[in-house]
Amino acid sequence: MSVASPLPHTEPPHDCPRCPRLVDLRRDLRAEHPDWWNAPVHAFGDERAWLGIIGLAPGKHGANRTGRPFTGDYAGDLLFATLDKFGLSHGTYASRPDDGLALHGAVIVNAVRCLPPQNKPTPREIATCRPFLDRQIEALPDLRVLVALGRIAHDSVLRAFGEKLSDRKFAHGAEHRLSGRIVLVDSYHCSRYNTNTRRLTPEMFEAVFAQALAHRGPS
Ligand code: URA
Repeated sequence: MSVASPLPHTEPPHDCPRCPRLVDLRRDLRAEHPDWWNAPVHAFGDERAWLGIIGLAPGKHGANRTGRPFTGDYAGDLLFATLDKFGLSHGTYASRPDDGLALHGAVIVNAVRCLPPQNKPTPREIATCRPFLDRQIEALPDLRVLVALGRIAHDSVLRAFGEKLSDRKFAHGAEHRLSGRIVLVDSYHCSRYNTNTRRLTPEMFEAVFAQALAHRGPS
């Protein structure tokens, strides 16, 4: 199962044909694991979100299996614990899409909607999937802050806003003012690798969400 997208009219179709390499991988995984989601993963969260969290792409055993972003893998443990700490979710995250968790004021989307081999989408795949991100950003009327998890998410957001990448360097905790009163805050991705190597600690991740909250503005 997956959960209903808060922005259904902006989502890719279940059998999106745009990226041949990702379609091939999806076909193989559908044969190997017919009980997995194995399809583009939709946004999860609040249609009145002031905060957008931009991930990279579904993890094989996480979102690609469960159908909900960051659900079922290590990256989700830290992300959902942090959202809970900042009052951005209701319910208890239990690593499954039917755990009843709901986001409050926040939405999570991935820069790339389908599982890429080795978690590495190609530049062409990132560009091919970007129209979905563009549409979702446009469809969120209360959006004030975007948190980009990693450089690929950062670059995709800048491109969505027509910004020059060379003017806006990615750095953990860096803030970039975009058009339409929106602020982008960069974070290292909350992947197992980054947390195991202490490139990203829970405290560093929380500091990014504290920055995001400071830019929320009046509701
Ligand atoms: N799961 C997601 O949905 N996105 C990521 O970026 C990582 C894990």
